[in-house]
Amino acid sequence: MAIERTFSIIKPDATRRNLTGAINAVIENAGLKIVAQKRIRMTREEAETFYAVHKERPFFGDLVAFMTSGPVVVQVLEGENAVAKYREVMGATNPANAAEGTIRKLFAESIEANSAHGSDSTDNAKVEIAQFFSGNEIVG
Ligand code: PPS
Repeated sequence: MAIERTFSIIKPDATRRNLTGAINAVIENAGLKIVAQKRIRMTREEAETFYAVHKERPFFGDLVAFMTSGPVVVQVLEGENAVAKYREVMGATNPANAAEGTIRKLFAESIEANSAHGSDSTDNAKVEIAQFFSGNEIVG
């Protein structure tokens, strides 16, 4: 299986509750390696760019407001099949549907305040990583 990289965000609901370490433990226990990480305050422009694919959806404004409401931790995760593996580790978008032991089942508050984002494809992972990290910030 290929070694891949995926992009992750620990969202404002989780940083507010001081859950960065707990979420990182779930990530590392799943065999994914955190090869870059920084805590930032996303600007409105950054959030609108990041979620541009959802701009016609009714929740777009709420999503941008939420993602800029507090600090986030952006990360690059590396491992075998990292994109699909992290989607599995996060669990379903809506925590009501998330499997036991997943980040969203353990920590998410709602479909909006759902604690974590992970890329949905290797192509999108490359684009998302490039929005927040330069090459020399990623140390495998
Ligand atoms: S998926 O499977 O990741 O594409 O899920 P999707 O349902 O398309 O959701 C995309 C992102 O939008 C967020 N979301 C919402 N935010 C606010 N309100 C509502 N109702 C809502 N529904 C979905 C969801 O948390 C996804 O965020 P990311 O960061 O991509 O996981």
